[in-house]
Amino acid sequence: MSEMTERIAALERAAREAIDAAATTLELEDARVSHLGRRAPLPNLLRGVAELDPAQRAQVGRAANEARRALEEAIERRGGDLAQAELRARLIAEGVDVTLDADPLPAVGRLHLITQTRREIEDVFVALGYDVVEGPEVETVHYNFDALNHAPTHPSRLPTDTFYIDTGSGSPDIFAPDTPLLRVHTSPMQVRAMEAQPPPIYVIVPGRVFRPDSDATHTPQFHQIEGLAIDTDITLADLKGTLLTFARAIFGEQREVRLRPHFFPFTEPSVEVDVSCFHCTGGVTPDGQRCPLCKGTAWIEILGSGMVDPNVLLAVSDHGYDPERVQGFAFGMGIERIAMLKHGVPDLRLLYDNDIRLLEQF
Ligand code: DAH
Repeated sequence: MSEMTERIAALERAAREAIDAAATTLELEDARVSHLGRRAPLPNLLRGVAELDPAQRAQVGRAANEARRALEEAIERRGGDLAQAELRARLIAEGVDVTLDADPLPAVGRLHLITQTRREIEDVFVALGYDVVEGPEVETVHYNFDALNHAPTHPSRLPTDTFYIDTGSGSPDIFAPDTPLLRVHTSPMQVRAMEAQPPPIYVIVPGRVFRPDSDATHTPQFHQIEGLAIDTDITLADLKGTLLTFARAIFGEQREVRLRPHFFPFTEPSVEVDVSCFHCTGGVTPDGQRCPLCKGTAWIEILGSGMVDPNVLLAVSDHGYDPERVQGFAFGMGIERIAMLKHGVPDLRLLYDNDIRLLEQF
Protein backbone atom coordinates (compact mmCIF):
# COMPACT_ATOMS: atom_id res chain seq x y z
CA MET A 1 0.00 0.00 0.00
CA SER A 2 1.36 3.37 -0.94
CA GLU A 3 1.86 6.10 1.55
CA MET A 4 -1.14 7.88 0.09
CA THR A 5 -3.52 4.94 0.35
CA GLU A 6 -2.35 4.36 3.92
CA ARG A 7 -3.18 7.95 4.71
CA ILE A 8 -6.63 7.48 3.18
CA ALA A 9 -7.21 4.36 5.27
CA ALA A 10 -6.18 6.26 8.41
CA LEU A 11 -8.51 9.13 7.60
CA GLU A 12 -11.34 6.68 7.01
CA ARG A 13 -10.69 4.93 10.33
CA ALA A 14 -10.68 8.23 12.22
CA ALA A 15 -13.91 9.27 10.51
CA ARG A 16 -15.59 5.95 11.33
CA GLU A 17 -14.62 6.31 14.97
CA ALA A 18 -16.14 9.77 15.09
CA ILE A 19 -19.30 8.51 13.35
CA ASP A 20 -19.67 5.61 15.76
CA ALA A 21 -18.99 7.85 18.74
CA ALA A 22 -21.66 10.40 17.77
CA ALA A 23 -24.49 10.00 20.30
CA THR A 24 -26.89 12.49 18.77
CA THR A 25 -27.79 13.73 15.30
CA LEU A 26 -26.11 17.03 16.22
CA GLU A 27 -22.84 15.29 17.14
CA LEU A 28 -23.08 13.28 13.93
CA GLU A 29 -23.41 16.46 11.91
CA ASP A 30 -20.28 17.79 13.65
CA ALA A 31 -18.45 14.59 12.71
CA ARG A 32 -19.60 14.91 9.11
CA VAL A 33 -18.39 18.48 8.84
CA SER A 34 -14.98 17.71 10.34
CA HIS A 35 -14.40 14.59 8.22
CA LEU A 36 -16.25 15.19 4.96
CA GLY A 37 -16.81 18.95 5.04
CA ARG A 38 -15.18 21.33 2.61
CA ARG A 39 -12.08 21.87 4.75
CA ALA A 40 -11.74 18.25 5.93
CA PRO A 41 -8.55 16.27 5.00
CA LEU A 42 -10.19 13.61 2.82
CA PRO A 43 -12.00 15.96 0.42
CA ASN A 44 -8.82 18.06 0.36
CA LEU A 45 -6.85 15.05 -0.63
CA LEU A 46 -9.38 14.20 -3.34
CA ARG A 47 -9.10 17.69 -4.76
CA GLY A 48 -5.30 17.20 -4.97
CA VAL A 49 -5.49 13.89 -6.91
CA ALA A 50 -5.25 15.67 -10.25
CA GLU A 51 -1.78 16.87 -9.36
CA LEU A 52 -0.45 13.37 -8.67
CA ASP A 53 1.62 11.59 -11.25
CA PRO A 54 -0.51 9.44 -13.55
CA ALA A 55 0.70 6.12 -12.05
CA GLN A 56 -0.68 7.06 -8.62
CA ARG A 57 -3.68 9.08 -9.76
CA ALA A 58 -6.05 6.22 -10.57
CA GLN A 59 -5.26 4.14 -7.48
CA VAL A 60 -5.37 7.03 -5.01
CA GLY A 61 -8.43 8.54 -6.65
CA ARG A 62 -10.33 5.28 -6.45
CA ALA A 63 -9.29 4.67 -2.83
CA ALA A 64 -10.27 8.17 -1.74
CA ASN A 65 -13.59 8.05 -3.58
CA GLU A 66 -14.46 4.67 -2.12
CA ALA A 67 -13.56 5.90 1.36
CA ARG A 68 -15.76 8.94 0.91
CA ARG A 69 -18.71 6.90 -0.39
CA ALA A 70 -18.35 4.40 2.44
CA LEU A 71 -18.26 7.18 5.01
CA GLU A 72 -21.30 8.89 3.50
CA GLU A 73 -23.21 5.63 3.72
CA ALA A 74 -22.09 5.13 7.32
CA ILE A 75 -23.27 8.64 8.20
CA GLU A 76 -26.59 8.03 6.48
CA ARG A 77 -27.15 4.78 8.39
CA ARG A 78 -26.05 6.17 11.75
CA GLY A 79 -28.14 9.30 11.13
CA GLY A 80 -31.24 7.19 10.53
CA ASP A 81 -30.67 5.20 13.72
CA LEU A 82 -30.02 8.29 15.82
CA ALA A 83 -33.03 10.18 14.45
CA GLN A 84 -35.28 7.24 15.20
CA ALA A 85 -33.93 6.89 18.74
CA GLU A 86 -34.36 10.62 19.33
CA LEU A 87 -37.95 10.54 18.06
CA ARG A 88 -38.74 7.59 20.30
CA ALA A 89 -37.22 9.37 23.31
CA ARG A 90 -39.18 12.54 22.54
CA LEU A 91 -42.47 10.68 22.17
CA ILE A 92 -41.92 9.08 25.57
CA ALA A 93 -40.82 12.32 27.23
CA GLU A 94 -43.62 14.46 25.78
CA GLY A 95 -46.35 11.85 25.94
CA VAL A 96 -49.60 12.87 27.67
CA ASP A 97 -51.53 10.19 29.43
CA VAL A 98 -55.09 11.18 28.61
CA THR A 99 -56.44 8.39 30.79
CA LEU A 100 -55.18 10.05 33.99
CA ASP A 101 -57.67 11.86 36.29
CA ALA A 102 -57.38 15.61 36.55
CA ASP A 103 -57.16 15.24 40.32
CA PRO A 104 -57.17 17.61 42.07
CA LEU A 105 -59.22 19.52 39.49
CA PRO A 106 -57.39 22.64 38.39
CA ALA A 107 -59.12 25.93 39.20
CA VAL A 108 -60.87 26.69 35.91
CA GLY A 109 -63.44 29.19 37.17
CA ARG A 110 -67.17 28.65 36.99
CA LEU A 111 -70.19 29.14 34.80
CA HIS A 112 -71.57 32.66 34.63
CA LEU A 113 -74.75 33.23 36.62
CA ILE A 114 -76.73 33.74 33.41
CA THR A 115 -75.56 30.37 32.08
CA GLN A 116 -76.29 28.67 35.41
CA THR A 117 -79.78 30.14 35.47
CA ARG A 118 -80.47 29.22 31.84
CA ARG A 119 -79.48 25.63 32.52
CA GLU A 120 -81.57 25.49 35.70
CA ILE A 121 -84.65 26.67 33.81
CA GLU A 122 -83.94 24.29 30.91
CA ASP A 123 -83.71 21.39 33.36
CA VAL A 124 -87.17 22.15 34.75
CA PHE A 125 -88.78 22.05 31.33
CA VAL A 126 -86.75 19.13 29.99
CA ALA A 127 -88.06 17.18 32.98
CA LEU A 128 -91.60 18.13 31.87
CA GLY A 129 -90.91 16.69 28.40
CA TYR A 130 -89.97 19.85 26.49
CA ASP A 131 -87.27 19.93 23.79
CA VAL A 132 -84.68 22.72 23.82
CA VAL A 133 -84.31 24.46 20.44
CA GLU A 134 -82.44 27.56 19.36
CA GLY A 135 -82.92 30.01 16.54
CA PRO A 136 -81.28 32.88 14.66
CA GLU A 137 -80.44 36.15 16.42
CA VAL A 138 -80.70 38.01 13.13
CA GLU A 139 -84.38 37.65 12.28
CA THR A 140 -86.77 39.16 9.76
CA VAL A 141 -89.75 41.45 10.16
CA HIS A 142 -91.88 38.47 9.18
CA TYR A 143 -90.83 36.19 12.03
CA ASN A 144 -90.24 38.88 14.65
CA PHE A 145 -93.53 40.75 14.09
CA ASP A 146 -95.87 39.76 11.22
CA ALA A 147 -96.19 36.02 11.88
CA LEU A 148 -96.65 36.87 15.58
CA ASN A 149 -99.77 38.89 14.77
CA HIS A 150 -98.28 42.34 15.42
CA ALA A 151 -100.41 45.09 13.85
CA PRO A 152 -98.52 47.32 11.39
CA THR A 153 -98.92 50.11 13.93
CA HIS A 154 -97.42 48.18 16.84
CA PRO A 155 -94.95 50.61 18.48
CA SER A 156 -92.16 48.08 19.08
CA ARG A 157 -91.62 47.96 15.29
CA LEU A 158 -90.17 51.47 15.41
CA PRO A 159 -86.37 51.80 15.10
CA THR A 160 -86.41 53.34 18.59
CA ASP A 161 -87.43 49.91 19.93
CA THR A 162 -85.85 47.53 17.42
CA PHE A 163 -82.34 47.30 15.94
CA TYR A 164 -82.71 47.02 12.17
CA ILE A 165 -79.76 45.73 10.16
CA ASP A 166 -78.15 48.25 7.84
CA THR A 167 -77.81 46.36 4.56
CA GLY A 168 -76.23 49.35 2.85
CA SER A 169 -79.30 50.23 0.78
CA GLY A 170 -80.46 53.27 2.73
CA SER A 171 -82.83 53.29 5.69
CA PRO A 172 -84.48 49.88 6.17
CA ASP A 173 -88.06 49.30 5.09
CA ILE A 174 -89.46 48.36 8.49
CA PHE A 175 -92.67 46.99 6.95
CA ALA A 176 -91.11 44.67 4.35
CA PRO A 177 -91.41 41.08 5.63
CA ASP A 178 -87.83 40.15 4.77
CA THR A 179 -86.11 43.21 6.27
CA PRO A 180 -83.45 41.88 8.64
CA LEU A 181 -83.31 42.91 12.29
CA LEU A 182 -81.92 41.75 15.62
CA ARG A 183 -84.74 39.81 17.25
CA VAL A 184 -86.34 41.69 20.15
CA HIS A 185 -87.60 38.47 21.73
CA THR A 186 -87.29 34.70 21.40
CA SER A 187 -90.93 34.47 20.27
CA PRO A 188 -90.06 34.25 16.52
CA MET A 189 -88.86 30.72 17.26
CA GLN A 190 -92.45 29.76 18.09
CA VAL A 191 -93.16 30.15 14.38
CA ARG A 192 -89.94 28.56 13.17
CA ALA A 193 -90.35 25.59 15.52
CA MET A 194 -93.90 24.99 14.25
CA GLU A 195 -92.71 25.23 10.64
CA ALA A 196 -90.12 22.56 11.43
CA GLN A 197 -92.40 20.12 13.24
CA PRO A 198 -96.12 19.28 13.15
CA PRO A 199 -98.16 19.21 16.38
CA PRO A 200 -97.95 18.13 19.15
CA ILE A 201 -95.00 20.37 20.02
CA TYR A 202 -93.44 21.15 23.38
CA VAL A 203 -90.34 23.33 23.10
CA ILE A 204 -88.41 25.92 25.02
CA VAL A 205 -86.11 28.38 23.29
CA PRO A 206 -83.25 30.00 25.18
CA GLY A 207 -81.36 32.77 23.43
CA ARG A 208 -80.01 36.27 23.09
CA VAL A 209 -82.32 39.15 22.28
CA PHE A 210 -81.65 42.83 21.54
CA ARG A 211 -83.33 46.16 22.27
CA PRO A 212 -82.13 49.76 22.18
CA ASP A 213 -82.40 50.22 25.98
CA SER A 214 -79.78 50.83 28.64
CA ASP A 215 -80.29 51.42 32.37
CA ALA A 216 -80.22 49.53 35.69
CA THR A 217 -82.82 47.02 34.50
CA HIS A 218 -82.17 47.05 30.73
CA THR A 219 -79.13 46.19 28.63
CA PRO A 220 -79.08 46.37 24.81
CA GLN A 221 -78.53 42.64 24.74
CA PHE A 222 -80.08 40.19 27.19
CA HIS A 223 -81.46 36.67 27.30
CA GLN A 224 -84.90 35.12 27.22
CA ILE A 225 -86.43 31.70 27.36
CA GLU A 226 -89.52 31.15 25.28
CA GLY A 227 -91.91 28.27 25.83
CA LEU A 228 -94.45 26.80 23.44
CA ALA A 229 -96.87 23.92 23.96
CA ILE A 230 -99.35 23.00 21.21
CA ASP A 231 -101.49 19.89 21.39
CA THR A 232 -105.16 18.94 21.53
CA ASP A 233 -107.24 19.96 24.57
CA ILE A 234 -104.73 22.34 26.13
CA THR A 235 -106.29 24.90 28.46
CA LEU A 236 -105.26 27.83 30.60
CA ALA A 237 -105.23 25.39 33.54
CA ASP A 238 -102.36 23.49 31.86
CA LEU A 239 -100.51 26.77 31.50
CA LYS A 240 -101.01 27.65 35.15
CA GLY A 241 -99.96 24.20 36.35
CA THR A 242 -96.84 24.28 34.18
CA LEU A 243 -95.81 27.71 35.42
CA LEU A 244 -96.53 26.76 39.04
CA THR A 245 -94.18 23.78 38.65
CA PHE A 246 -91.58 26.08 37.14
CA ALA A 247 -91.95 28.75 39.86
CA ARG A 248 -91.65 26.20 42.67
CA ALA A 249 -88.59 24.55 41.10
CA ILE A 250 -86.79 27.87 40.77
CA PHE A 251 -88.05 29.93 43.72
CA GLY A 252 -89.00 27.29 46.31
CA GLU A 253 -91.74 24.76 47.03
CA GLN A 254 -93.88 27.25 49.01
CA ARG A 255 -94.51 29.47 45.99
CA GLU A 256 -97.86 30.24 44.40
CA VAL A 257 -98.47 31.88 41.03
CA ARG A 258 -101.19 34.25 39.90
CA LEU A 259 -102.22 35.30 36.41
CA ARG A 260 -103.12 38.91 35.66
CA PRO A 261 -104.84 39.91 32.41
CA HIS A 262 -102.51 41.66 29.99
CA PHE A 263 -102.00 42.11 26.24
CA PHE A 264 -99.56 40.49 23.86
CA PRO A 265 -100.21 40.41 20.10
CA PHE A 266 -99.52 36.68 19.80
CA THR A 267 -101.59 35.34 22.71
CA GLU A 268 -105.31 35.56 23.44
CA PRO A 269 -106.04 35.76 26.29
CA SER A 270 -102.71 37.10 27.48
CA VAL A 271 -101.52 37.19 31.05
CA GLU A 272 -98.66 38.43 33.12
CA VAL A 273 -97.57 35.90 35.67
CA ASP A 274 -96.56 36.74 39.22
CA VAL A 275 -94.88 34.51 41.78
CA SER A 276 -95.59 34.95 45.49
CA CYS A 277 -92.74 36.90 47.10
CA PHE A 278 -90.07 34.69 48.61
CA HIS A 279 -88.55 37.51 50.64
CA CYS A 280 -91.47 38.33 52.91
CA THR A 281 -94.94 37.31 54.05
CA GLY A 282 -97.80 39.32 52.62
CA GLY A 283 -95.51 42.17 51.62
CA VAL A 284 -94.05 42.63 55.12
CA THR A 285 -90.54 41.52 56.10
CA PRO A 286 -89.93 39.63 59.39
CA ASP A 287 -88.81 42.89 61.05
CA GLY A 288 -92.05 44.63 60.12
CA GLN A 289 -90.79 46.63 57.11
CA ARG A 290 -92.41 47.01 53.71
CA CYS A 291 -90.71 44.34 51.59
CA PRO A 292 -88.24 45.97 49.17
CA LEU A 293 -88.36 43.08 46.70
CA CYS A 294 -92.12 42.97 46.03
CA LYS A 295 -92.62 46.60 47.12
CA GLY A 296 -95.12 45.45 49.71
CA THR A 297 -97.41 43.81 47.14
CA ALA A 298 -96.50 40.18 48.07
CA TRP A 299 -96.21 39.34 44.35
CA ILE A 300 -93.35 39.58 41.84
CA GLU A 301 -93.85 39.61 38.07
CA ILE A 302 -91.76 36.92 36.39
CA LEU A 303 -93.00 36.48 32.82
CA GLY A 304 -95.51 37.06 30.03
CA SER A 305 -97.74 34.34 28.74
CA GLY A 306 -101.05 33.34 27.26
CA MET A 307 -102.98 31.01 24.98
CA VAL A 308 -101.50 31.08 21.47
CA ASP A 309 -103.58 33.38 19.26
CA PRO A 310 -105.33 31.46 16.43
CA ASN A 311 -103.81 33.99 13.99
CA VAL A 312 -100.34 32.69 14.89
CA LEU A 313 -101.46 29.13 14.16
CA LEU A 314 -102.96 30.30 10.86
CA ALA A 315 -99.53 31.66 9.88
CA VAL A 316 -98.27 28.05 10.02
CA SER A 317 -101.46 26.25 8.95
CA ASP A 318 -99.55 24.78 5.99
CA HIS A 319 -97.48 22.88 8.52
CA GLY A 320 -100.36 21.09 10.21
CA TYR A 321 -101.47 23.74 12.71
CA ASP A 322 -105.24 24.02 12.28
CA PRO A 323 -106.60 26.37 14.97
CA GLU A 324 -109.88 24.40 14.92
CA ARG A 325 -108.05 21.26 15.90
CA VAL A 326 -105.04 22.23 18.06
CA GLN A 327 -104.32 24.93 20.58
CA GLY A 328 -101.83 25.69 23.30
CA PHE A 329 -99.95 28.20 25.34
CA ALA A 330 -96.74 30.21 25.12
CA PHE A 331 -94.65 32.08 27.61
CA GLY A 332 -91.51 34.16 27.62
CA MET A 333 -89.24 35.22 30.44
CA GLY A 334 -86.00 37.17 30.88
CA ILE A 335 -83.20 34.97 32.18
CA GLU A 336 -81.41 37.92 33.79
CA ARG A 337 -84.60 38.94 35.58
CA ILE A 338 -85.04 35.44 37.04
CA ALA A 339 -81.38 35.38 38.13
CA MET A 340 -81.55 38.84 39.69
CA LEU A 341 -84.73 38.05 41.61
CA LYS A 342 -83.47 34.73 42.83
CA HIS A 343 -80.04 35.98 43.92
CA GLY A 344 -80.83 39.56 44.92
CA VAL A 345 -78.67 41.17 42.22
CA PRO A 346 -79.59 44.87 42.39
CA ASP A 347 -78.38 46.08 38.98
CA LEU A 348 -78.56 44.19 35.70
CA ARG A 349 -75.32 45.75 34.47
CA LEU A 350 -73.41 43.91 37.21
CA LEU A 351 -74.02 40.72 35.25
CA TYR A 352 -72.17 42.18 32.27
CA ASP A 353 -69.28 43.98 34.03
CA ASN A 354 -67.60 40.62 34.69
CA ASP A 355 -66.08 41.80 37.96
CA ILE A 356 -64.60 38.64 39.43
CA ARG A 357 -65.76 39.65 42.94
CA LEU A 358 -69.37 39.45 41.77
CA LEU A 359 -68.97 36.35 39.60
CA GLU A 360 -67.33 34.41 42.44
CA GLN A 361 -70.47 34.73 44.55
CA PHE A 362 -72.45 32.31 42.39
N1 DAH B 1 -92.10 38.17 23.81
C1 DAH B 1 -92.58 38.83 25.01
C2 DAH B 1 -91.60 39.91 25.41
O1 DAH B 1 -90.48 39.88 24.99
C3 DAH B 1 -92.72 37.86 26.15
C4 DAH B 1 -93.84 36.90 25.93
C5 DAH B 1 -95.12 37.20 26.32
C6 DAH B 1 -93.60 35.70 25.32
C7 DAH B 1 -96.17 36.34 26.12
C8 DAH B 1 -94.66 34.81 25.12
C9 DAH B 1 -95.94 35.14 25.52
O2 DAH B 1 -94.49 33.62 24.53
O3 DAH B 1 -96.94 34.27 25.32
O4 DAH B 1 -91.95 40.79 26.15
